[in-house]
Amino acid sequence: MRPLIAGNWKMNGLGSEGIRLARAVCEGLGQGYTHVDVLLCPPFTLIERVARAVAGSAVAVGGQDCHPKTSGAHTGDVSAPMLKDAGATWVILGHSERRADHGETNALVRAKAEAALAAGLTPIVCVGETLAERDAGRAEAVVEAQLAGSLPEGFAAAQGVVAYEPVWAIGTGRTPSEADIGAMHAAIRARLAARFGAGGQGVRILYGGSVKAANAKPILAVPEVGGALVGGASLHAEEFLAIVAAAPVALA
Ligand code: PGA
Repeated sequence: MRPLIAGNWKMNGLGSEGIRLARAVCEGLGQGYTHVDVLLCPPFTLIERVARAVAGSAVAVGGQDCHPKTSGAHTGDVSAPMLKDAGATWVILGHSERRADHGETNALVRAKAEAALAAGLTPIVCVGETLAERDAGRAEAVVEAQLAGSLPEGFAAAQGVVAYEPVWAIGTGRTPSEADIGAMHAAIRARLAARFGAGGQGVRILYGGSVKAANAKPILAVPEVGGALVGGASLHAEEFLAIVAAAPVALA
């Protein structure tokens, strides 16, 4: 398995700066880091331009959300085939900001993941507990319920990816201990194996939440961590490239 380092630009980036950032990532990768899958997820408005800017490089492009339907009367929404048409090959789904800001339920995230698979996009489904849930000792139960409800049947066979992102670690500069990350990733792996059998062993499980150059190496070395979903630090090419450089050569 290859590690995956994915940049989630969130609602950041206008034309020229987004293109500059994407180009800087491609140039920084150069011929190196061929053992790492690198993905940039810009806002919808930049997908086509970023896809053009990285064409011919090893960098892939993804969306940050999609609608469960392919087309229709859904003002302001973007479908999975539209993402694909714009040059995306991946899509982040069920990010905690969407679960919180837009009331996305596990059932909705699952429907979106089904739409992504049908369109030929690889979904990255996000799960993670709030601080109150962790403090109450419910972190694993919450994440297991999110996995059970959000992942569609064909998820493992299509090499879908899970991102464990504790809500309290996102954008806060706080991260769980490596032991806590390892425990949660092992719990996620056990759920995936129980549900999908051998296919569940091949699902990469990313860690996300305040990953930066300074903490990437020990986090990426934790067993069952298959890469990182990077928010704030992905907006700076050097920082993002340093995270890519911290990825192990091969996953266990
Ligand atoms: P952060 O965001 O790296 O800025 O904490 C991670 C994410 O939300 O994917």
